[in-house]
Amino acid sequence: MAIPLVPDASADTPIARAAQAAMIARAGGEPWPRPRSCRILTIANQKGGVGKTTTAVNLAASLAMHGSRVLVVDLDPQGNASTALDVEHRSGVSSIYNVLVDGVPLADIVRKVEGYSQLHCAPATIDLAGAEIELVPLVARESRLARAVTEYDSSSFDYIFIDCPPSLGLLTVNALVAAPEVLIPIQCEYYALEGLEQLLRTVDLVKSHLNPTLMVSTILLTMFDSRTKLASQVAEEVRSHFGELVLDSVIPRSVRVSEAPSYGQSVMTYDPGSSGALAYLEAAREMAFKDAAASPA
Ligand SMILES: Nc1ncnc2c1ncn2[C@@H]1O[C@H](COP(=O)(O)OP(=O)(O)OP(=O)(O)O)[C@@H](O)[C@H]1O
Ligand SMILES: [Mg+2]
Repeated sequence: MAIPLVPDASADTPIARAAQAAMIARAGGEPWPRPRSCRILTIANQKGGVGKTTTAVNLAASLAMHGSRVLVVDLDPQGNASTALDVEHRSGVSSIYNVLVDGVPLADIVRKVEGYSQLHCAPATIDLAGAEIELVPLVARESRLARAVTEYDSSSFDYIFIDCPPSLGLLTVNALVAAPEVLIPIQCEYYALEGLEQLLRTVDLVKSHLNPTLMVSTILLTMFDSRTKLASQVAEEVRSHFGELVLDSVIPRSVRVSEAPSYGQSVMTYDPGSSGALAYLEAAREMAFKDAAASPA
């Protein structure tokens, strides 16, 4: 049997994990370039379960571990990002709901994430489920998050990630109005591209009526299963359609990624040597360096 010189980085075996852990250790926590001004990215896809929250949490953790100051805004009543970052979000706790509906300043609800010096979270509680309806009669209902973000001192952050619910309702529209950039995670599965047109139409509508600087800046392929031909076909199709917007790093399907949230952790701390952690680290690094190349200091 031939023994490969370089262990397969996508395999979740003890040897591969050890090799990956060594690679991470070698890279250390050395700082990556930080954007000149705060980058605000809305993570959207109205399709459920494509990896929006996982992407928000793990990109945020990776960037925070490499010198950036990062805020995750949980805009989903499910509160999955708050759970994964272990930030209290039982009903009644001050949350993004109060920011949107009551006009409470964002600064009042932002919490520090334990275990990181530079990672913060604006939690979501189940109360947010009512916001889609409660927002309807309110003044400037589509731009309430944008206003809160503008009033907040975003110069204290390098990145703000807004994690959207799986719908194109008022919550997602608020997120699209609040950010110049949209990051779309696409799951490498058969129906992946269905519904994408509707999302892109919504982005265009918001751009023409409410937020002229809005653009889709980043696409990330998630839950890639290297054993299936279909996953490669979907990845190829996405790349031929979106070209440069698609990050080179592809997130593999990895059981460690799905286990991490139940321990109130990102996979970056839960199992830093796993294939999923390494892929998110690479994706975050690409984002940091791509931006630095686009706008040299
Ligand atoms: N790379 C991966 N490998 C294995 N499981 C994953 C991976 N990424 C995400 N998952 C799991 O898939 C499920 C859906 O992921 P996630 O919650 O990030 O998607 P979502 O788009 O935020 O979902 P929703 O639309 O409900 O908000 C979760 O159980 C998550 O742990
Ligand atoms: Mg989610």
